[in-house]
Amino acid sequence: MESPFKADVLKGKVALLTGGGSGIGLEISTQFGKHGASIAIMGRRKNVLDDAVSALKALGISAVGFEGDVRKQEDAQRVVESTVKHFGKLDILVNAAAGNFLVSAEDLSPNGFKTVMDIDSVGTFTMCHEALKYLKKDAPGRNSSSGGFILNISATLHYTASWYQIHVSAAKAAIDALTRNLALEWGADYDIRVNGIAPGPIGDTAGLSKLAPQEIINDNANDRLPLYKVGEKWDVAMAAIYLASDAGKYVNGAVMPVDGGMWLSKPRYLPKDAVRQVSRAVEKRSRAAPAGVPTSKL
Ligand code: COA
Repeated sequence: MESPFKADVLKGKVALLTGGGSGIGLEISTQFGKHGASIAIMGRRKNVLDDAVSALKALGISAVGFEGDVRKQEDAQRVVESTVKHFGKLDILVNAAAGNFLVSAEDLSPNGFKTVMDIDSVGTFTMCHEALKYLKKDAPGRNSSSGGFILNISATLHYTASWYQIHVSAAKAAIDALTRNLALEWGADYDIRVNGIAPGPIGDTAGLSKLAPQEIINDNANDRLPLYKVGEKWDVAMAAIYLASDAGKYVNGAVMPVDGGMWLSKPRYLPKDAVRQVSRAVEKRSRAAPAGVPTSKL
């Protein structure tokens, strides 16, 4: 689908994306690049990075890949610095790296819980922490009157509770807290905007194939989605462009669900026709019922 944004809305920006070599991260890398940004992607697997950088370059996007694990502070520091060395500055940090698997709370080891917290929550904080000095206004190479931009990818799992996702729900809740607290502190101190996107089920991603694998998908799966379809990576990337561009210049500390309204969904307990029939009758009965306080027998 064609982007509704002008092709130069991110012209001249330098963006670093963790998890930018695959899934939602790669789509954001691609769309940011198509809208004028230079792209650095960070990931653990060299072959994934190489393929992603080749694909970006084939689209005419200025792109580079850096191997690294967000769980290691030295990797975070090295990749942020390599990005600034390569492109001369840093304007945008996108934290899209994540880990996930389905597991019941009783079967999840504390180390399994910690592993996801380390990748998602601590990793996001570590990257923000290392990027701060380059995102401040007037940071090396930026010469900008405004600070940079941080986008954290979380989820909607923790808005209520999610089966077999205690670790990810905790990790994504922490990410949303980071988004709001950094928006407050770094917005005030450094004019850096910090926002989040909470994707719902997005097709053709590792997340969806892990959380809704073929083995457990049934024909009625889409009935639970208000818009009766899963989202596309493009949907998340367009929201990211809105937030990262000047269109979102007054948006700070927001976490935007991009889930078709799924987190609001509940099973329909009564068909619409039944409501039409029953509601009037119930109302009539209720108006006919004696009003006031029953007479006391005392
Ligand atoms: N069920 C239960 N526990 C699991 C698990 C599963 N499916 N997969 C991993 N774990 C546990 C391991 O048993 C281990 O705990 P233990 O030491 O107590 O046994 C802990 O998690 C760490 O596992 P390990 O395989 O050493 O971690 P890793 O660093 O190699 O991999 C993961 C991290 C597990 C998150 C891996 O799935 C990953 O790399 N994911 C990235 C891609 C991804 O998930 N994308 C989807 C994003 S939405």
